[in-house]
Amino acid sequence: MKLTDLRGILQYIPQFREKTFVLAIDGSIVTDDNFATLLLDVALLWSLNIRVALVHGASAQIRSLADDGKIEASDFDGTGVTDAQTLDLALTAANRLTHEILEGLSANDLRAASTNVIIAHPVGSLHGVDHLFTGKVERVDAELLQSLLAQGVVPVIPPLGFDGDGKTYRVNSDGVALAVAEQLKATKLIFVTSRDGLLHRGQLIRQMPVAELVGLLQDDAAGFGSDMVSKAQHAASACRAGIPRVHVINGTLEEGLLGEVFSNHGLGTLIYANEYEYIRAAKKKDVRAILLLIKQAVEAEELVKRTKSTIEKSLGDYYIFEIDKNPVGCVALHVYPEQSKGEVACLYVASSHENQGIGRKLMQFVENKARELGLRQLLALSTQAVTYFQSKGGFVEGTPDNLPPARRERYDQSGRNSRVLIKDLA
Ligand SMILES: CC(C)(COP(=O)(O)OP(=O)(O)OC[C@H]1O[C@@H](n2cnc3c(N)ncnc32)[C@H](O)[C@@H]1OP(=O)(O)O)[C@@H](O)C(=O)NCCC(=O)NCCS
Repeated sequence: MKLTDLRGILQYIPQFREKTFVLAIDGSIVTDDNFATLLLDVALLWSLNIRVALVHGASAQIRSLADDGKIEASDFDGTGVTDAQTLDLALTAANRLTHEILEGLSANDLRAASTNVIIAHPVGSLHGVDHLFTGKVERVDAELLQSLLAQGVVPVIPPLGFDGDGKTYRVNSDGVALAVAEQLKATKLIFVTSRDGLLHRGQLIRQMPVAELVGLLQDDAAGFGSDMVSKAQHAASACRAGIPRVHVINGTLEEGLLGEVFSNHGLGTLIYANEYEYIRAAKKKDVRAILLLIKQAVEAEELVKRTKSTIEKSLGDYYIFEIDKNPVGCVALHVYPEQSKGEVACLYVASSHENQGIGRKLMQFVENKARELGLRQLLALSTQAVTYFQSKGGFVEGTPDNLPPARRERYDQSGRNSRVLIKDLA
């Protein structure tokens, strides 16, 4: 590992300290060769004061126990009917998996506890069919979970629910993870699966605001495939329940978890709660991030060079587009009040996040600002993104005469020969 990697990781630490991540691990991952590495990563998160609770599934193991014993299981994932013998299989599978997780955590010197924090009641009859031992999460004993987490104990939560009368029910682990994350007010819910992330019609979703995911689920839920639709639904519910970030990652990849948590462009899928609020005014501490962000574009002469002090002088003009608290884009709106004009400047989107509409959102954002300020015209100067401003932003070609006098003077001095683009806001 390079020292710069470590620096890259360290920048995330303050925002995650004392925060809770809920990891929802598919049963198939617990028996995967990479599981030991995943638990090592969990230990690393704990060492950085990030509290991690583990929820696990068991369907793959129920399936294999059923095959081994030549038993016909009535359901695998806790969504259908659980008959008595299937509940038996679920208990065996879940207990075995919990134990394996506890073993793995001990191997990493982590204290852990198997819990009975899911209070459930029977689902009952649906469409006239009694679901027998399938349970529905009624409540989560968040107090117990919080006290374990506060003592540095990793809670391990199996896909089983308990009622007050000593009965056990099989519950779906995605639903458990959602309820636990909600009750713990988790910062992240991370589904650890054997797929690369959420795929829709074969296309990996890298990042998506929850509203878009809800739309996809409404229009074409089948596109997620039967194995991932539950993750998509629970990811959407989690974001809507106030969990800002839901990730779906591949637990068989060595860097799956850390790569997702500690990088601007994770390997899996990120569903986030609300995109708009993540365009925000830049603060003094963001100046370095802006300089770093635009460095490449300045070198390629796409953007004009700016120094720390030039940005600081007009810091109030700058806005940042953040995903998961990481700046991935920026824009500035310089206002010329006398001419009632505004200039869109320093528009930049990190190459890792290009072609996702972020540039357009930033342009729209400053246009809205300009309208709020009652400006009559927007200007943009560009050497290499002229058609972008025209086709995506609705700008038309203007001339240097459109520039306010002070700006015109700098334009003439710069020798960049940028093209002038204008958009009337009236
Ligand atoms: C220009 C830039 C801001 C676009 O950001 P983005 O978030 O990738 O753009 P969007 O997702 O909103 O739009 C993508 C579309 O614009 C097109 N596009 C991207 N850069 C373009 C450019 N320089 N010229 C023309 N079209 C461009 C893409 O091909 C894509 O087209 P499609 O939707 O028809 O497939 C980004 O590429 C960038 O930062 N470039 C370097 C800096 C720069 O030139 N800034 C503008 C000068 S102030």
